Amino acid sequence: MNPDIQLLQPYPFERLATLLDGVPAAAEKPISLSIGEPRHAAPAAALEAMVDTMRDMEIYPTTTGSFALREAIANWLGQRYQLKNAVSPDTQVIPVNGTREALFAVAQCLLDRKSNKTRVLMPNPFYQIYEGATYMAGLQPEFYNAAMTSDDGPDFSLISEDSWAAAQMIYVCNPGNPTGNTLGPSEWQYLLSLSNKHGFIIVSDECYSEIYRESAGAPIGLLQAAAEYGNDSFSNCLVFHSLSKRSNLPGIRSGLVAGDAALIKIFKNYRTYHGCSMAPPVQKASIVAWSDEQHVQQNRALYDEKYDAVLDILSPLLTMTKPNAGFYLWPQLPVDDETFTREMHAQQNVAVVPGSYLAKEINGINPGYKRTRLALVAELEQCVEAAQRITSYLESV
Ligand SMILES: Cc1ncc(COP(=O)(O)O)c(C=O)c1O
Repeated sequence: MNPDIQLLQPYPFERLATLLDGVPAAAEKPISLSIGEPRHAAPAAALEAMVDTMRDMEIYPTTTGSFALREAIANWLGQRYQLKNAVSPDTQVIPVNGTREALFAVAQCLLDRKSNKTRVLMPNPFYQIYEGATYMAGLQPEFYNAAMTSDDGPDFSLISEDSWAAAQMIYVCNPGNPTGNTLGPSEWQYLLSLSNKHGFIIVSDECYSEIYRESAGAPIGLLQAAAEYGNDSFSNCLVFHSLSKRSNLPGIRSGLVAGDAALIKIFKNYRTYHGCSMAPPVQKASIVAWSDEQHVQQNRALYDEKYDAVLDILSPLLTMTKPNAGFYLWPQLPVDDETFTREMHAQQNVAVVPGSYLAKEINGINPGYKRTRLALVAELEQCVEAAQRITSYLESV
């Protein structure tokens, strides 16, 4: 067995199942705010495109996908990020089967386990794939503090010069999960200048980029920031996007990686061996989804409505900010987060995730301790009902 397998930590949902094992749930109808699985309807036209092209299953898809798909992706990136230089569908884009597999695979492909640069920087709290990918690539994760409120991005100036110099790659989660914070222009420029100086790769996980509050505006992405910095060829920059949250299509496993043509070329070669091309009907559905913004606006409006309703109920009792983007709330709790999770299950039948399961303890501090992550993915009425049940519990402690 590959010994690095033993370094993989139990996934937060495995730990959650262990925490609740043998704890009977309250009799109320269950409501889940735990898994970040969108529940709004997917665009019908995308689903129809998939059904209409089922016979395309009779052919082998290529690693790079169809030109039409790469073109739809390049057009979307160009429009969304107001890029003056068009993204090349031939050299700067590759379709992937959701961002998760790609965020993992990119580390296996681009990191050099024999280099004296041994680190991969990643946020804390964090999406656990970054850590597992780093271990499996034979490097060491080093955590930096993600901002805990929606007002700021992470404070990159707290990362030491030695750490930047030892880094081959940095994972940035923008918008952040679970905090929903977004990087501003100065944070991007700072990061780009350090990448320029030290030569590390910036991997920007932007899978929540389209679930932003209309009042906060669309978050700046890495490609846009790189172009503004003068890095028009996106050297050492890769962005990861997905249809899972944007278009409520987590089941079709469709996303994209775009940026530095030299890195994309290596990644394409790796993926040819890895054998992970996208099914042709999924490619057709993806073209439809990337080419339409109306359903994305409607999706955002539904989340905005839920944030307003839930914050009205919970704000008097819990300290939290309305995040710029994403579909989570990340409140501070008056009790420890495992107790809160267990009691919400036992007394109210509401599933939540302990904040500490989504973060790492560094120097004795786990930034998720006494926090919970609430995914506002259920219907409005269910989110409101869950918020009322949280209130009932909090008033009893
Ligand atoms: C921060 C983050 N990145 C990536 C993903 C993976 O999304 P997908 O593989 O569906 O594109 C998720 C899923 O929840 C996530 O929260």
